Amino acid sequence: MVSAIDPPPRLLMGPGPINADPRVLKAMSAPLLGQFDPQFREYMKEVSELYRGVFQTRNRWTLLIDGTARAGIEAALVSLIEPGDRVLVPVFGRFGHLKAEIAKRCGAEVRAVDAEWGTVFAPEALEKAIKEFKPRLVAVSHGDTSTTMAQPLAELGGLCRKADAILYVDATATLGGMDVPADAWQLDVVSAGLQKCLGGPSGSAPLTLNERAEKRINRRKHVEQGLRGKDEPQGEGEIIRSNYFDLAMIMDYWSEKALNHHTEATSMLYAAHECGRILLEEGLPKAFARHALASKALTAGLAAMGLELFGDQRHKMPNVTGVVIPQGIDGEKVRRALLADFDIEIGTSFGALRGRIWRIGTMGYNAREDAVLVTLAALETVLSQEHFKLPRGAGVEAARAAHRGR
Ligand SMILES: Cc1ncc(COP(=O)(O)O)c(C=O)c1O
Repeated sequence: MVSAIDPPPRLLMGPGPINADPRVLKAMSAPLLGQFDPQFREYMKEVSELYRGVFQTRNRWTLLIDGTARAGIEAALVSLIEPGDRVLVPVFGRFGHLKAEIAKRCGAEVRAVDAEWGTVFAPEALEKAIKEFKPRLVAVSHGDTSTTMAQPLAELGGLCRKADAILYVDATATLGGMDVPADAWQLDVVSAGLQKCLGGPSGSAPLTLNERAEKRINRRKHVEQGLRGKDEPQGEGEIIRSNYFDLAMIMDYWSEKALNHHTEATSMLYAAHECGRILLEEGLPKAFARHALASKALTAGLAAMGLELFGDQRHKMPNVTGVVIPQGIDGEKVRRALLADFDIEIGTSFGALRGRIWRIGTMGYNAREDAVLVTLAALETVLSQEHFKLPRGAGVEAARAAHRGR
């Protein structure tokens, strides 16, 4: 017999997952309920209300997609894109490519516009691309975890409305750590995952959609035959090409109708519920300030150690920091030593950035002073062992000073 799972006590300081808040793990161990139990339906309603607060929206349809953050992306794109639709994807990192790929799988005519990794788009560049291509949908990352950059989005919603395009935003990396006011920024659909700034495990994707998006989706509503009422009218639009990610049916499931679809992932819903409660108890402004402070302390510490930060720092997400791996240093060896000797995980990146940068996350439950200090101290020790010349103690000292506001 294999032993029971008993993981080592890692400090997860990579780009996600991070250590879940212990309150979330406790919530997940609550007894299961049936999905149509009145108490469970009450929890579902509470989740919708909590995430209206998190997304800063009044959208009726604020719910969970069962699956990791990518499930939220797929549900949004497959439900919104009809084959042949023009979809514009601004790509400034790996997760832009992911959305372009999913859109292609949905049968879209995709135009990907590129910004160099480590930079973001000027609003004028996006405006020009929208005017030229006339997309029906724009799909963009708010923060691209692969490059650590955050795309300014305040103006994009207005541009999409003018062009009659729906705007989908992947806020997986930023929700809970940065301001993502869905209504104020006119974001039509936004989705995320729990495992980053929301402080939970991966496996549930909060999603919100407004009436513009609802109209497009419900035009294509085809209720499963085994559930459909006798003369229930079907949408005139083309059927949504995924059953599991069919937002029209998922809305019915989350509505008062409680029309059966999947079996809601009970323990993940408990997790999302507690993540939402923790965040709103702290208050969004305080949570954003905590992430910003952790980033300030971490970057001050890294700079004091003589390390170079990656990308345009004016657009860096506060919750993930890219660090250029110094010449002559084996980045993977450093990561292995951090894990083996200090139980600390940090990340590398993807594509052209693989082996060129490390990514250190300060998100959710781990956006804390002690987590930053321990990570800096461990990195300093490992880099010294690798003969990287640095002033011993300077990183931790600079981070402490940043925390004290000096
Ligand atoms: C911006 C962004 N989008 C999507 C994803 C995919 O999330 P998941 O691995 O939970 O499916 C990630 C994961 O890191 C991400 O950072």
